[in-house]
Amino acid sequence: MLLGISAGIAAYKSAQLARLLKQAGCEVRVVMTEGAQAFIAPLTLQALTGEAVRTSLLDPEAEAGMGHIELARWADTILIAPGTADLMARLALGIADDLLTTLCLASEAERIMAPAMNQAMWRHPATQRNAACLQQDGWRLLGPESGEQACGDTGPGRMLEPEAIMAELATLSSAAHLARQAHEPEQQTQLPAQGLHIAITAGPTREPLDPVRYLSNHSSGKMGYALAAVATELGAQVTLISGPVSLPTPEGVTRIDVETAVEMHATSRRLASECDLFIGCAAVADYRAEAPAEHKIKKRVDEDGLTLKLIKNPDIIADITAMRDAAGGRPFVVGFAAETRDLESYARDKLERKRLDMIVANNVATQGLGFGADHNAALLLWRDGDGEGGEDLPPQPKRELARMIIDRALACLNTRPVH
Ligand code: PMT
Repeated sequence: MLLGISAGIAAYKSAQLARLLKQAGCEVRVVMTEGAQAFIAPLTLQALTGEAVRTSLLDPEAEAGMGHIELARWADTILIAPGTADLMARLALGIADDLLTTLCLASEAERIMAPAMNQAMWRHPATQRNAACLQQDGWRLLGPESGEQACGDTGPGRMLEPEAIMAELATLSSAAHLARQAHEPEQQTQLPAQGLHIAITAGPTREPLDPVRYLSNHSSGKMGYALAAVATELGAQVTLISGPVSLPTPEGVTRIDVETAVEMHATSRRLASECDLFIGCAAVADYRAEAPAEHKIKKRVDEDGLTLKLIKNPDIIADITAMRDAAGGRPFVVGFAAETRDLESYARDKLERKRLDMIVANNVATQGLGFGADHNAALLLWRDGDGEGGEDLPPQPKRELARMIIDRALACLNTRPVH
């Protein structure tokens, strides 16, 4: 295990991570960026791993022992914790301007990163772009999680705790091998969603009218976040494409924040090409303002009304079911239908029209269920290799409903015809 440490306050947690990796039986070599050394001394890591810590690309003495290319080949897994916004940007661009970035470029090892940064930096579109780009390049991102930050802000950007990273490693492939021994010394049961990548949209979208106003809806994100938490517990690699909500990221889930339907569409399409199961739980605005005003729209004293021209947003899940990869396949696609009447007939219509594999229809006019509530009920309709099916799921906590939805989707996935 090559443990890369970059310049974040969370670097102090890397010492504990190195200790846990050693305890789990990993051979650990540490590479630190120049900035990381301002947060934690290389000597600490050297004492914990029993190996000299590498910090420089151009160090003749270290190169004489094990050259950087050799080190890149030596690693089965590169684990970077913490990964800063700057490091993510450099890796996304393929820049090799220090030892750590050079090793990442030269290595064919499994690559995992636990990002850590200020919440605004994490939410910034550039960082989100880089996160998506790294995932596309094969990086697995663990976290970050939401919470109070060292700088006093609250939000997403906290590095996962070392114990949580170890638990994540235990569900991953080759890196997990040794870590798993520490967690499950006796028995290694295969989790039902292990090896699957599941992408889930959640929450509302916001469609700007002017710099201070937007069109949106009452989605809180609870249903989508429950699905993400359950899918992760079942062993899947989960990416949550989230509209603006105030929920913490479920442990182990990679979250990409978006605002508008157009942004959600672009991110979803990118992820759909690499996932096995796509769940569209977000309440996506069907329309957006044709031309959001550059400045705040002023109230007209001489007119009683205001006319807004709206145009159609792209239909995310319909576009995904229309996608085909080189082998003619696409992910199994689950859509939702939020209705206030004629639940079954509208749901069947959406299942057909959007060419979905499964639909979760919920009546959002029922008191205490649906938007913003902690409970929900649904009618599931699906098509799989065995034909068509349906099931009524009674009112229950969203978390339990999520489990039933994922269980059914996994069962269908196993019998689905090749698309
Ligand atoms: O977030 P919560 O407060 O927990 O509430 C959960 C929920 C009520 C939002 C959720 O259970 C739900 O019903 N989500 C879907 C809401 C919705 O937009 O439904 P719809 O019937 O308008 O859309 C049908 C499907 O098409 C949905 O899967 C939607 O994600 C998708 N869609 C819609 C429009 C669009 N432009 N692109 C889409 O992909």
